[in-house]
Amino acid sequence: MNYLEMLENSKKNIGEFCKVCKECNGISCKGKIPGPGGKGLGLGFIRNYEDLRKIRLNMDTVYLNKGTNTEIELFGKKFKYPVFAAPVGGVQIHYSDLYNDLTYSKAVINGCHKAGTIAFTGDGVKDEVFTGTLKAIKANDGWGVPTIKPWSKEEVIKKIKLSENAGAFAVAMDIDAAGLSILAAQGKPVSPLSKEDLKEIVNSTKLPFILKGVMSANVARKAIEAGVYGVIVSNHGGRVLDETPSTIEVLPEIVEEVQGKIKVFIDGGFRSGIDVFKAIALGADAALIARPYAISVYGAGEEGVELYTEKIGRELAEAMIMTGASNLSEIDEDKIR
Ligand SMILES: Cc1cc2nc3c(=O)[nH]c(=O)nc-3n(C[C@H](O)[C@H](O)[C@H](O)COP(=O)(O)O)c2cc1C
Repeated sequence: MNYLEMLENSKKNIGEFCKVCKECNGISCKGKIPGPGGKGLGLGFIRNYEDLRKIRLNMDTVYLNKGTNTEIELFGKKFKYPVFAAPVGGVQIHYSDLYNDLTYSKAVINGCHKAGTIAFTGDGVKDEVFTGTLKAIKANDGWGVPTIKPWSKEEVIKKIKLSENAGAFAVAMDIDAAGLSILAAQGKPVSPLSKEDLKEIVNSTKLPFILKGVMSANVARKAIEAGVYGVIVSNHGGRVLDETPSTIEVLPEIVEEVQGKIKVFIDGGFRSGIDVFKAIALGADAALIARPYAISVYGAGEEGVELYTEKIGRELAEAMIMTGASNLSEIDEDKIR
């Protein structure tokens, strides 16, 4: 199967809310939750996508060609591209019941592993979602980052221990899920956590701990003080609060605050290797992608995940060749405008 065939297949399988649009930009699905849209007017999602369109690449093909290396090293492991699948939970509600959270996680974990990258996976009200996903991570020699919701401190620490036992390379928390009232409605409330609680959680494990949902220098500073390994600049794809800035808009101030002390990842509207290039030029270490991976899973399972990851990787390599960057550290602000 090729990439276009995979998209056609996805249109048939993905359910009524996602239209598998040519540009996955948040417009036709705005406000659609259940569904993959942004909350309210959907502006958080739309802005993420549109602000990336405002950045352009500077061409330079007059240089001594030393080859192109897209590899990144994190958690002591090498990944082929600085591109990871972002967690997506509740797939049966938001897409269609062709997949459930377990079969979805397995497809992204396996597909990303085969393509040389890693998937971040979701957490749910039912414990089986988390524990089942850990089985897939264990079967893939730890290639997966379980992303835990901000439940009570005790429950988070319990889930971190389970992740350690499964051999996961790292753990994450989508702290911005504190805004998901739908979880409380299902009898399992989430809540913001204090810096002290966060510190205790981070200190409870030797695994690198990544905080997802950081949208300002102020919160990045608190995350550093709590001892995290890295932050993910994310507004949850505009699904927890409308009218936020775009993630690419706040990236430079967060990079400035962090000063290389921790890793900085980003997600929100990233659709091509060129988009990933832009984030790296602005100081991010890597980017995560969510909705297009869901489209890929519904199109062709783990094969779809592999196809999409390789497409992004090729586009990134092409952008590097066309701008004179032989490795990721050579992608800097001079290469964009
Ligand atoms: C249907 C759907 C479900 C999601 N579920 C989760 C989740 O369980 N945990 C999480 O951290 N983020 C979740 N997200 C947010 C994504 O991980 C990501 O931050 C966001 O979608 C931005 O990336 P994108 O524009 O590439 O989709 C979800 C997003 C969507 C669209």
